[in-house]
Amino acid sequence: MSVVTDEQVEQFRREGHILFSGLIPEEVARCGEAAMWALLEMDPEDPETWSEVPDHAVHKPTRHLVQHQNCAAPDILACYTDEVLTALSELTGKDRGKIHSPKKVLTQNVFPCDEPWSHSRSHFDGGTNRWKFNDTFPIRYGVHSILYLSDGEPHGGGTFGWPGTHKTMRGLAVSNPAKYPYLYEVNSDMHLVDIGEPVELVAKCGDILFYRNFFVHAGSRNVGARPRFACRHGWTL
Ligand SMILES: [Fe+2]
Repeated sequence: MSVVTDEQVEQFRREGHILFSGLIPEEVARCGEAAMWALLEMDPEDPETWSEVPDHAVHKPTRHLVQHQNCAAPDILACYTDEVLTALSELTGKDRGKIHSPKKVLTQNVFPCDEPWSHSRSHFDGGTNRWKFNDTFPIRYGVHSILYLSDGEPHGGGTFGWPGTHKTMRGLAVSNPAKYPYLYEVNSDMHLVDIGEPVELVAKCGDILFYRNFFVHAGSRNVGARPRFACRHGWTL
């Protein structure tokens, strides 16, 4: 039985992103949330513990961001359920048998701050680091995902997305292959095209966002009361 509707497939094709609820059972998602707290060695009920970042994490204090590059916590990986993988297959038309759960993910946890709210720099994945020399074509990842493991609220550190920009930015890339051998150069020329206005994607624990390559998005400051927990993964489809 399908887990994705024709309308959702069409939205994914047209807008380049889709935020799903209900693919991950509530109890599975809450176990993932608890595993994230454990990984961070923090007490969800004691905000004083939230500023003590463990040595095994990557701390980016100007962004109030705490990451783990290769998180393999079983209760977090368990959130990539059969329904999640089936949804990805149905969205992309790729063979379900060739889509596998990740063995590790990148955690991206955004902690509350007292600074004025803003979203961060708009970008597409793979295009932000000049020195990685990520080839524009063939592009490595077909789809990216962000799994949310906390209940979000507006301006609570959520993801911003620019609908339709997967087409705009890909169009820029193919317009001049000689100028754009690497994704960094395409991303750097974003000002040459009209990317429109962003939408704030407010997710709850257990929601998962899929977005296509070249899709422009941004993180944002968390001026809410609770940390925003998420895991990113790239899918080589
Ligand atoms: Fe990104």
